Amino acid sequence: MERPAKQIRLGLSMAGHGYHHSAWLDPSVPPDGINDFGFYLNLAQVAERGLFDMVFLADFLTFTMIDIPKGVTGRTSRGSFEPVTLLSALSQLTKHVGLAATTSTTFGTPFHTARSFASLDLLSKGRAGWNVVTSFQDEEAENFGSSSILDKSTRYERAEEYVDVVLGLWDSLAPDAYVYDRASGYLFDPARVRTLNHVGKHFRVKGPLGTPRSVQGRPIIIQAGASEEGQELAARTADVVYSVQPRIEDAQRFYEGLKSRMAKYGRERDDMKIMPGLLPVIGATEQEARDRFRAMQKLIDPKVGLRYLSAIFGDLSDHDIDGPVPELRKDKPLATRAKLIHDLAKRNNWSIRQLYESTAIGNTHNTVVGTAEQVADVMQDWFLNGAADGFNLLPALSPTSVVEFVDQVVPILQARGLYRTAYTATTLRGHLGLSDPPTAHSD
Ligand SMILES: Cc1cc2nc3c(=O)[nH]c(=O)nc-3n(C[C@H](O)[C@H](O)[C@H](O)COP(=O)(O)O)c2cc1C
Repeated sequence: MERPAKQIRLGLSMAGHGYHHSAWLDPSVPPDGINDFGFYLNLAQVAERGLFDMVFLADFLTFTMIDIPKGVTGRTSRGSFEPVTLLSALSQLTKHVGLAATTSTTFGTPFHTARSFASLDLLSKGRAGWNVVTSFQDEEAENFGSSSILDKSTRYERAEEYVDVVLGLWDSLAPDAYVYDRASGYLFDPARVRTLNHVGKHFRVKGPLGTPRSVQGRPIIIQAGASEEGQELAARTADVVYSVQPRIEDAQRFYEGLKSRMAKYGRERDDMKIMPGLLPVIGATEQEARDRFRAMQKLIDPKVGLRYLSAIFGDLSDHDIDGPVPELRKDKPLATRAKLIHDLAKRNNWSIRQLYESTAIGNTHNTVVGTAEQVADVMQDWFLNGAADGFNLLPALSPTSVVEFVDQVVPILQARGLYRTAYTATTLRGHLGLSDPPTAHSD
């Protein structure tokens, strides 16, 4: 086969026990791993052995105690570490793999975000990435002095300004600003420092930020919102986009739509890598993979299944679990994904149980149940046919699913010339093949 010029990018989402909502009940998953640094270190090291571009930590600013349906609290899988803190520790025990963390523009402040990610970028020698999210849960707002989340258009308006301020702060110091010159007595050259003096609708930030730029210039910007507002923010500012696309036709439409928005911001299509989620369930044969998936479905605690669906449909406790799926809830604004889940149920004529069994493992991401060869086939198809630049690997069960992917799928992709056989760069920007970021400093 002729070798394609470009290669697949890979990220690993290290979500706690795995993406399966009852993952911690599986005997292969250490239940206390989520509170154990060694568990995450192992995951990052396996990803590095698999030559991944980056590992990624999602984050939600609530330890939700909402008991819908009754008796569910305490049963769901979740993570506990603050992402930048955890990745800072991992940065000292990994060498190549990129380190991406989530921080919310609705609850953070741009100065803190710019500073902590610039520090992670220095600590890791140019491997940091920031997943920009706007958050969507009222329970998160309750931890920040409010009873409900801001409406979506205000959240995205704030996010647009927030990202600009952070980018401006990261450009405070020219690469040669620190001169460390004992002879002249100058530690840094004030002429090579830019004071931002930002005054906007949501923020007033003077700057400058004193953290010097890393070897990759600044951290990578990642975005995961798929709404109109989310796509505009991504088209203007994102280096990487995580998306939820269960089917190749939808993924191609999303890919083309998002890439074609970039020109009006003066950006080339290749300046952004689109990486949909991929959840593989691998077996030695297709039948074995199906049996494993079925066993995983049986593991889902029905209360946890209903809890997962409650965000979309409200409390379903009084519904027949084997009856039809109701209409979407109307009392709350819903994320783009809610409609996707509802459409899936209608299209397949699923019952409530069938719906959560089909979606609570992969969270509506592209779930491929088959042999390692079949997983590689799907990745190749999406990559070569305008649906993806790479994939965000979502392990059903951690660490088992990650080890299986690295040992079984990675060698197949390498043999097909679709994936690197060694790291050729030292920074996350380098792994992703992105060019240097623009700077307001003259040479
Ligand atoms: C792969 C992926 C990861 C995400 N991770 C987070 C996260 O860690 N924290 C968060 O608050 N939202 C997260 N989101 C949600 C999005 O950032 C966004 O808020 C959500 O999709 C709703 O916005 P939208 O309507 O623009 O899609 C994630 C979304 C996707 C697709």
